[in-house]
Order: sequence, then structure tokens, then C-alpha cells
Amino acid sequence: MLMHLSTWPEVEQFIARSRTIVVPIGSNEQHGPTGLLGTDWLCPEIIALEAERTADILVAPTFNIGMAQHHLAFAGTISLRPSTFIAAIGDWIRSLTGHGFEKILFLNGHGGNIASIEAAFSEVYADASFAKRRAGYALKLCNWWDLPGVGELAREQFPSGHGAHATPSEIAITQWALPHARKSAHYAPQIAPSGPIREALEFRARYPDGRVGSDPGQATPEKGEALVKLAAQSLAQELDAFSLEPVPA
Ligand code: NI
Repeated sequence: MLMHLSTWPEVEQFIARSRTIVVPIGSNEQHGPTGLLGTDWLCPEIIALEAERTADILVAPTFNIGMAQHHLAFAGTISLRPSTFIAAIGDWIRSLTGHGFEKILFLNGHGGNIASIEAAFSEVYADASFAKRRAGYALKLCNWWDLPGVGELAREQFPSGHGAHATPSEIAITQWALPHARKSAHYAPQIAPSGPIREALEFRARYPDGRVGSDPGQATPEKGEALVKLAAQSLAQELDAFSLEPVPA
């Protein structure tokens, strides 16, 4: 069930049978010369939608702007600073727990979001901790590439040139789901340089076309399809296991 295509009575009925929800979360940021700006929010959304086709799960609207300050020297990137992002995630969580959701799984598509999502969880748990009361809910962060089996498959598909940003695995996923938006370019060098990630102008100087360590030329829609099918299956299993975890009230 997709929250944005449901009515409030339908969501209320869902809560009567399940208190678990998945929130795709990502970023709108440059992904090199051929990667879509939406790559990091499209990938978790595509995987959640695929899981929803066969499992009785509820998918929240995608949180599609994240912590991408280091990509701001490239056109089209939209970022929240960490403090804004943390505050916004907190209000999403408080909205959902207020309706009775007890298990919220954030399916993340952007490495730069991880620290802020974890910090947001700590901020929200602090509401209960400082008041010396039980939270009554549990929060979980899952990066799509860490879902069981997915990292192994990506390493098999792309033994070299996977890299850290504008990776062939994420680009393959968008090529499969959105064939009309597929782009091509000549990559020079074929595998982008690797190194640290700091602020925006330094990033652009170090990684002129926006890629980090990757060769997106290895992406194909067929590889993307295999990644999505496996990730969707793993997500449904993760959600099942998470639902069964006890949360003392
Ligand atoms: Ni990405």
C-alpha cells in the first residue's frame, strides 16, 4: 500500500493490522555526467515499490532531499544542512508515531545521509529518555546496498570500478526502472579518481565530472533489474523481522 495514494481511513485500517512502515529516503544531487539527479531517492523508492507489489507493506512518501552539501558546486543539487535534515526527520517520525506506527524503517539511498539519520534517531529517542518514559517505538536505518545479498551481487556484477559515488549499481537501477531517462557520455578517465569527501568546491576540484571511483559505463538495465528484485525480496524479509521485534510499551 502506498501512503500517498491512500485515504486516511485506509491508513487507519492498515494500522489496525500492522504498525510497521517503510520510508524511502535519499537526496537530489549530481551523479556524474550520466546519473540522474534523483538517483539516490529513486533507488530506495524503486526498491520499496517493487517490494510492495507482492508484500502487504505500507510505503510512506519518499523523503527526497537529504544532506548533500558537498555536491552543491554542481547544478541541480538541493541540500539540507545536517541540523535542518535532523529536525525534519524528527518531525516525520513524530508524525508517524503519533498515528500509532511502532516500527519505522528508513530505506536510505545516500551515504551522506547516514550520520544525520542516526543523529535524528538519537534526538527523537531523547524525547523519551529525558522524560524517563518508554518511547514505545523502534527506528531502523537500512541502506539499500546493505540489504542481505545486495552488496555481494553488486561486487559480482562490478568487480572493479564500482566506486563510491555515481556507482554503476545505482545507475543500473534507474536505467531499469526509467528507461526513457537513460543517458550516455564518454567517461575520461573510465574509472573516476577516489579520495576524501569534504566541502563543495574542494569536491568539484577533486572530482571534476562528479563521479568518485566509479565507472558507470558498466551499468545495464538487466543488472539493475537483478539488483532491484533481490533488494525488494530482502526488504520484505527485513520488514517482517523488524515487525516481530518486541517494543515494550
Ligand atoms: Ni548515489
